[in-house]
Amino acid sequence: MPLIPLPELLAHAREHGYALGYFESWDSYSLEAVLAAAHEERAPVIVGFGATMLDDPWLDDRGIGFLGAMGRAFVEGSDVPLALLLNETHSFEQAIRGIDSGFTAVMIDSHRWPVPEAVAAVSALVDAAHPAGVAVEAEFGSLPDFVDGQVHDGHAYLTDPDEARAFVEETGIDCLAVAVGNVHLLTVGTAAIDLPRLKAIDAAVSVPLAIHGGTGFPPADVAAAIDAGVAKFNVGTRLKRVFLDAVMANAGTWTGQESVHDLVGSHKDTDFLVAGQASITSTVRELIRLYGSSGRAESLLPKEVT
Ligand code: 13P
Repeated sequence: MPLIPLPELLAHAREHGYALGYFESWDSYSLEAVLAAAHEERAPVIVGFGATMLDDPWLDDRGIGFLGAMGRAFVEGSDVPLALLLNETHSFEQAIRGIDSGFTAVMIDSHRWPVPEAVAAVSALVDAAHPAGVAVEAEFGSLPDFVDGQVHDGHAYLTDPDEARAFVEETGIDCLAVAVGNVHLLTVGTAAIDLPRLKAIDAAVSVPLAIHGGTGFPPADVAAAIDAGVAKFNVGTRLKRVFLDAVMANAGTWTGQESVHDLVGSHKDTDFLVAGQASITSTVRELIRLYGSSGRAESLLPKEVT
C-alpha cells in the first residue's frame, strides 16, 4: 500500500521544488477520479475528505468512520504515493475519530477560534496523532470566504510570520496553512497573493506551508509560491463545479424512458456520475501538472512497488 507519511511527502516536494495537490473528495466517485488522475500523471497526491461542508450529526454518527473505511479501501488499491487527509473538522473529537478511522493526516478547522483555544486543541491533537503515526496540519491566519458572489472577510486576518512561528513551535504541527490573500471558495477571478509575506512566513517557520483556496489561486503565482515555501495546494470548489456541470449536461439527455439503473450509480459509461468523474480527473491532471508533481511518484515509492 503506497501510503507515505505526509511530512515525508511534503519534504520531498520542498526538496525537489514542486507542490502536492490535496484534491478534496466527497464520495467514492470523486475519490476514484482523483486517484485515476494521480495514477495517469504518476504523481504523489493527498486524497481525502473535508468536514467543513458536512453535517455534524452525520459526521458524529458514523460519517467519519465511513469516510475513513472508504478512503482506506480505495487507496490500498492505488499505486502512487499518497496521504489520506481528514480535512478541517469542526471539532477536536472529530479529528480524533479520524485518527481512529484510518486517516493518515488530520486537521481541525480552528482558524476562527481564539488563538489560545486553537493552540490547546491543536497541541492535544498532535499529542494524540503523532504516536499513531498520523500527521497534523493547522491553519494560522484566517481566510475570507467567497459566498453569494461576495468576499466575506469579517473574520479574516493575514498570517503574521512571528505569530506563526510561535504557533508552530507551541503546537508541534507538521504543516502550516497560511492566509496570504488566498480566498476560500473563490470562483470569480483570482485572489491577490502577498508573496513577500509568504517568503517571510517560510523564513520564520520550520514546517512546509499549505495554501487553502486552491480554486481561486492565480495559476501565474504557483511557481513563485512553491519557491516561497508552499508544498501543498488544497482544491475543493472547482472539482464540485466541473463535476456538477458534467452531470447536469448528461442528465439533461434523460428522456424518462432509459433505465435509471444504467444512469445512476452503475459505474458503467452510461452513469451520469461517471461523466462527472471524468471531468474531475481531467481537471486534477491539469492541476497536478501546474503544481509540478507529475512524474514524481516513482522516486517516492519503495522499490518493490515500482
Ligand atoms: P477551494 O474550495 O477554494 O478550492 O478551497 C479548498 C480548500 O481550501 C479545502 O481546504
